[in-house]
Amino acid sequence: MFDTLKEDIQVVFERDPAARSVMETILTCPGFQAIFFHRINHWFWTKKLYLLARLGAHMARFMTGIEIHPGARIGKRFFIDHGMGIVVGETSEVGDDCSIYHGVTLGGTTWQKVKRHPTLENNVVIGAGAKILGPITIGTGARIGCNAVVVKDVPAGATVVGVPGHVVVKKEVKDQMLAQREAMAKKIGFDAYAERQDMPDPIQNALDSILDHLHKVDEEIEHLRQKKD
Ligand SMILES: CC(C)(COP(=O)(O)OP(=O)(O)OC[C@H]1O[C@@H](n2cnc3c(N)ncnc32)[C@H](O)[C@@H]1OP(=O)(O)O)[C@@H](O)C(=O)NCCC(=O)NCCS
Repeated sequence: MFDTLKEDIQVVFERDPAARSVMETILTCPGFQAIFFHRINHWFWTKKLYLLARLGAHMARFMTGIEIHPGARIGKRFFIDHGMGIVVGETSEVGDDCSIYHGVTLGGTTWQKVKRHPTLENNVVIGAGAKILGPITIGTGARIGCNAVVVKDVPAGATVVGVPGHVVVKKEVKDQMLAQREAMAKKIGFDAYAERQDMPDPIQNALDSILDHLHKVDEEIEHLRQKKD
């Protein structure tokens, strides 16, 4: 328990450039305070001292503006920045090294008493105001943009923005993919590049997928050839 708390303080210094001293963190960082109380409240919860656990969570919410249900399972080095307006539901599960900002909701979408809140794998970052709803899984290392509303599983390493949340690909990666497609199209003598990239044309999408696949096959053949040499 003591080691976990030490890590909870340490992580504030790693991820909050404004943090100055341990005493300041303990006395004035609502994120740390909320996690500190949650670890105690969760222990009460596991011992079936439900009322005590709920009372503790209620007092922590009063003090920090962060509502973490004592049943929520939270991993190591959880970092909450600013905190106000955060809600973490009863059946939420949070892996190690996750960070969330103010206004984030890990919420449910049913009134049934079942697993109804999200699971965050390790190293997930959730931007301010984002809502993650339902028993979905946010994969390791995924990043959720400010104010996104996410209702479906997110693959590991993905960046999701918008309402409803969708995976975004960085501009450099997009440009690289387009260049690869054009090179492949030229190589096989295929010329359909009068099309507009921003049109949602299913036939063009299918052709793009074939070109991407051909590129991967080429890479694989090259890799095998190099291995053989
Ligand atoms: C989602 C996020 C992690 C993406 O960061 P990134 O990997 O550097 O991505 P980029 O800034 O290159 O953006 C990628 C694309 O998503 C868009 N985008 C980024 N954040 C967005 C958001 N919250 N909502 C909608 N679109 C967003 C960008 O405009 C860009 O679109 P484009 O490719 O059409 O130009 C970041 O924007 C974010 O929201 N971080 C949370 C930070 C936070 O909550 N801070 C609070 C501090 S108090």
